[in-house]
Amino acid sequence: MERIFSVPLKGGTVTDVYMLDTMGELADVLSEQGSSILISDENASRLLPSIPGGAVIIPPGEKEKSWESVEKMLEGAASLSLARDSVFVGFGGGVVLDLAAFASSVYMRGARLVLVPTTLLSMVDATLGGKTGFDYLGIKNLVGTFYPAESVLIVPETLRTLPDSEFRSGLGEVVKHALLSEDARLWEFLESSHDLIIARDRDALSEMIRLSLEVKIWYITRDPEEKKGIRSALNLGHTFGHALESMNGFSISHGEGVAWGMHKALAAGLALGLTPDDFAARALSLLRLYGFNGDHMIPDGRFPAFMKAIRSDKKKSGGSVKFVLMEGQGKPVLTALDDNAVKAAVKGFN
Ligand SMILES: NC(=O)c1ccc[n+]([C@@H]2O[C@H](COP(=O)([O-])OP(=O)(O)OC[C@H]3O[C@@H](n4cnc5c(N)ncnc54)[C@H](O)[C@@H]3O)[C@@H](O)[C@H]2O)c1
Repeated sequence: MERIFSVPLKGGTVTDVYMLDTMGELADVLSEQGSSILISDENASRLLPSIPGGAVIIPPGEKEKSWESVEKMLEGAASLSLARDSVFVGFGGGVVLDLAAFASSVYMRGARLVLVPTTLLSMVDATLGGKTGFDYLGIKNLVGTFYPAESVLIVPETLRTLPDSEFRSGLGEVVKHALLSEDARLWEFLESSHDLIIARDRDALSEMIRLSLEVKIWYITRDPEEKKGIRSALNLGHTFGHALESMNGFSISHGEGVAWGMHKALAAGLALGLTPDDFAARALSLLRLYGFNGDHMIPDGRFPAFMKAIRSDKKKSGGSVKFVLMEGQGKPVLTALDDNAVKAAVKGFN
């Protein structure tokens, strides 16, 4: 087991990130945790050679990201007589991890937390930064806390069983990190190792995850409390993408929505003369290399519904909707766009 990052976060806390070669190695580490509860879902838990007595296994899916699931976890912890120094181990995708982290943050005012992400999206996006929570009153992540894990254990081998659509969803976030990085390594690696990545070669995945996390860490450590606008850059593709996801009843995956949103952010940046042509061409070619073609159109008749979905982002931020556009590689800017600019962008390159 190799410690690949030690990430300083808000309030002097640190999250240590480890890369592990095998599930056997993970089992050894987890067996040394002492008093603990394992939290997983029915798909991810199949990867475990055996499920310990103290476990809460929920059905898979975003609809389980609910208060009822949190209750099961708190009841499980109480029935095991766990104390504040006991460990909540989340093992699964972002849904399981957000729930386990929330339950751990409120159990006895905060128990210890270890996260083991098993989807690509959760490895590169959902384990660092300390956001926890669940969906409530039909609103995604309405209730949550900020509670960083003490450690994150990544076993790339777990990605072998991940369905293709979920793998692609994670790749959308990885490509986003490549665009946002001032450093060329992730971008070049995605170009040079495409075939190995798609074949889910373990070493290629380890390297890709490591480079991708480096970018996320760069942004969160410069804005740990999300107050300087720097961390907002990680929302590249998200404002357009979320609106598309919500209009489609969340039938497209998150990463697919984000990749589409990146196409639209590039189109908007080009139209404003803000995004250089050569950068946009390179970024589009990287997106296309990974099969994100951005072709989906918002027909005129559906545009008002699309704008409504865009504006619901505004409610969350309490101000005007800001889009992340790109002035070049590693150069995001937050910009308001009028409806006409949005309309032109969602027609994009078609
Ligand atoms: N806290 C954060 O900073 C943060 C960041 C991004 C996303 N999120 C949250 O993450 C969630 C999405 O996460 P996700 O995309 O990982 O979805 P998910 O947790 O729903 O997992 C996707 C599917 O893959 C299955 N699965 C997980 N690991 C598997 C494996 N190794 N093999 C086979 N199947 C496996 C799951 O059971 C599920 O069916 C959302 O709720 C989002 O809000 C949180």
